[in-house]
Amino acid sequence: MNDLSSSARLAGKRILLGVTGSIAAYKAGEVVRRLREAGAEVRVVMTAGAMEFVQPLTFQALSGHPVHRDLLDEGAEAGMGHIELARWPDAILVAPASADFLARLAQGRADDLLAAVCLASTVPLAVAPAMNAKMWENPATADNVRTLAGRGVVLLGPAAGEQACGETGAGRLLEPPALVAGLGELFESGLLAGRRVIVTAGPTREAIDPVRYLGNRSSGRMGFALAEAAAEAGAQVTLISGPVSLETPRGVTRVDVESAREMLEAVLAALPGSDVFVGAAAVADYRPVAVAADKIKKSAERLTLELERNPDILAEVKRRHPEIFCVGFAAETTDLERHAREKLARKGVDLIAANWVGPAAPEADGVFGSETNALRLFWPDGEAALPLASKARLARQLVEHVATRLEAFRQGHDARGKVLPFSGTRDEGRGTR
Ligand code: CTP
Repeated sequence: MNDLSSSARLAGKRILLGVTGSIAAYKAGEVVRRLREAGAEVRVVMTAGAMEFVQPLTFQALSGHPVHRDLLDEGAEAGMGHIELARWPDAILVAPASADFLARLAQGRADDLLAAVCLASTVPLAVAPAMNAKMWENPATADNVRTLAGRGVVLLGPAAGEQACGETGAGRLLEPPALVAGLGELFESGLLAGRRVIVTAGPTREAIDPVRYLGNRSSGRMGFALAEAAAEAGAQVTLISGPVSLETPRGVTRVDVESAREMLEAVLAALPGSDVFVGAAAVADYRPVAVAADKIKKSAERLTLELERNPDILAEVKRRHPEIFCVGFAAETTDLERHAREKLARKGVDLIAANWVGPAAPEADGVFGSETNALRLFWPDGEAALPLASKARLARQLVEHVATRLEAFRQGHDARGKVLPFSGTRDEGRGTR
């Protein structure tokens, strides 16, 4: 495992905090403050009940964003409507969660903004119950909590002790530091604990002369999100990146390169002893045959650049290290599945994550540089779809698939990557909350 504390996992994360009607609602202010201290971006949704206890202005001041409260408010829907709000976070925390809110959540209701956002969201959801001890002990609440836990909702608390209503028992909101630590643990799956992962990201630059290059529009976001998700899953991660303007994710070792050949060299140096290679870089397929020593001056009306093929890093990694589980990306404008499967076979890799690009793309909303994406995953005997989500969320889902497929791969291969008889399992991909 790399050595990050659980609240350090919240740096750069988007947390949607739901506040419901409970006397403990005032403590949610402290939760916002601590989440921000941990580096998270926070948006707050309040129910009508919560607003009986605390003014929205408190949360606006603490979170730095207006509080979201109405499901059918035209202005709010035009700004960030409930569906955008559901897509925005990396995790949702409802603290305090009242007995009534847990009941509505268990029923799948969408009768206010917070319930609708929880219903429309696929990100990890944690609830921190706070209620009178008798309400907590009631079999109706116990049933609701069981139902929610069965659906993958994470329960934080409640704590036991003296209550505002004079009762003693379980039902107190967990203290803010414990809530923040518990939320951080949602981002620690341990799925790749002890594994070494190499990720390439960003574009490459192929020099034409000392001041010019051939490049592409890759932002590097997907590769960086994958490196971060793999580190969160406990892996030791080396990120080999072309020129991008992104911060290095916490706990990740970064190597900066420019050209495809430099990237290959850095990858080959980092590779021995690795378990997984993810080629998320948009590597230039060609480079100028000759790099002019001096700046090329304009003269003739036409100028021809002669290009030659660059090494295919992904294919080269798999050729040299068949024992490493290799993941490639494919960006396609037509026949997504056919092209992706062809690349899977041609490069001999173990998993291809494919997405649409260009105007014919049914789901993509401008993948290069965009915050969101949708992926289809293909492996030799299976496939799975990851619907439109933030790149951070997709990266976590992809890491889960890699962890699952890595197990199958290990069982089916000897230490040198040779296929053993009777290998192969069929797995349609695990659902994630
Ligand atoms: N890749 C690589 N080295 C290259 C080119 C691509 O490692 N020189 C990797 C990318 O990181 C990505 C996958 O290969 O994981 C993309 O495969 P590629 O065949 O280049 O796909 P496209 O760029 O979509 O190219 P084309 O459709 O032209 O074959």
